[in-house]
Amino acid sequence: MREIITLQVGQCGNQIGFEFWKRLCLEHGINNEGVLEEFSTEGGDRKDVFFYQGDNKTYVPRALLLDLEPMVLEKIQTSEFAKLYNSENFKVSQEKIGAGNNWGQGYDQAEHMHEELMEMIDREAAECDSLEGFVLCHSIAGGTGSGMGSYLLERLNDYYPKKVIQTYSVFPNQKESEVVVQPYNSLLTMKRLILYADCVVVLDNTAINRIAVDQLHISDPNLTQMNSIVSTVMSASTTTLRYPGYMNNDLVGLIAGLVPTPRTHFIMTGYTPINLENTKQTIRKTSVLEVMRRLLQPKNLMVSCNTKNGCYISALNIIQGDVNSTEVHKGLQRIRERKLAEFINWGPASIQVVLSKKSPYVKTNHRVSGLMMANHTSITELFSNTITQYDLLRNRKAYLGQYAKTSLFEESFEEFDSSREIALNLIDEYRASERNDFIKWGEKQVDNEENYEENEYDFEDEKF
Ligand code: GTP
Repeated sequence: MREIITLQVGQCGNQIGFEFWKRLCLEHGINNEGVLEEFSTEGGDRKDVFFYQGDNKTYVPRALLLDLEPMVLEKIQTSEFAKLYNSENFKVSQEKIGAGNNWGQGYDQAEHMHEELMEMIDREAAECDSLEGFVLCHSIAGGTGSGMGSYLLERLNDYYPKKVIQTYSVFPNQKESEVVVQPYNSLLTMKRLILYADCVVVLDNTAINRIAVDQLHISDPNLTQMNSIVSTVMSASTTTLRYPGYMNNDLVGLIAGLVPTPRTHFIMTGYTPINLENTKQTIRKTSVLEVMRRLLQPKNLMVSCNTKNGCYISALNIIQGDVNSTEVHKGLQRIRERKLAEFINWGPASIQVVLSKKSPYVKTNHRVSGLMMANHTSITELFSNTITQYDLLRNRKAYLGQYAKTSLFEESFEEFDSSREIALNLIDEYRASERNDFIKWGEKQVDNEENYEENEYDFEDEKF
């Protein structure tokens, strides 16, 4: 058994987590109190990866719900899903004041809660037969998901060094910035995502908003509608773990196929056809080729990066529906002939395809649907934008006073400089990976930079 513990942190983390569990319950035939529905039959699916069974046989999410202010958790505790969760797994800081969009505040408050947090994590880990790893759900732009999320990434890395850490990280809408200091918070969090996560699934609010507007014709999408798209991606990306087949049955396997070198682990996703209740259906007919083709179009990706620039390092299509392998082979052949996807030339230059079972309890109108998880070098556009916005603020010394009051910035703003440098190094690595001599480039980096070793840069990372 390879169990996964989910840590939901901050407003966004808990809101997307809530939708994720709702969706998982639906797919596994579990009702909102954790009881197996009468119609659901045992077998085929693996509920135990994400849930455990309590003494009374109800299914309980392996989830910790953490925040620094009570509003979102109280909403969950008074929702129709209140009884689903283990009530011991909700934790709000004693101060209950939130992090005020300040990464430093989120980080410091998490440090004050260190013992309680680690105790909760250890308790949940003890519930597992063979814990595979952790999934962190958070946004990188506010104060709690970013600061507390960063703190947790560091501590998980210290206390559970052999366990896999995957994140679903919501990147802020770059067109409508709600948080002025979002570039500061984002860059500080990116440093921890680069150093301590094994795989980051990037969910970009700019792109999710665009998909809701352009494809679902919602003029002004609200968070519930956006999160419905997010939960579709989250659940689809875990189907191979929950409905095991021949490939990608555990997180290690899934990540190993997507992440060739430890730091280039930022994954973009696409899903088609996107379907939401009460929205117009635009796609009438689906086929494997059509789904695979659509998944390669930048407009269907949940990141605001142009995949016409750069190339794929790896790509996985998880296809669900009424499909056979001949259709997949034909689809792949067409994509190759038409050169629809350009790959790096030092790795296996093709899309991996998994035909995954889907829940018998969720009816869809489409014959075929698909999720793409891809490692593409154009992800650097997102990082470069963040750095550009950061530089604008930092050069004006804007809002630095708020950060100076927190522990990592008491003496200097070196933490900002080091985060910027680590993000720039990652951009360099992605750019270098487009070159034929990337492997040599990697060897040189290891020789040249001693601190790479300090930061555990190792091509033969033992987790994989
Ligand atoms: P504090 O409010 O400072 O305590 O931190 P927090 O981590 O709770 O803040 P929050 O999660 O609200 O982070 C703000 C960022 O998350 C902004 O970019 C929001 O657009 C985004 N965000 C907030 N809630 C949601 C959500 O439910 N879904 C999505 N997709 N984005 C969200």
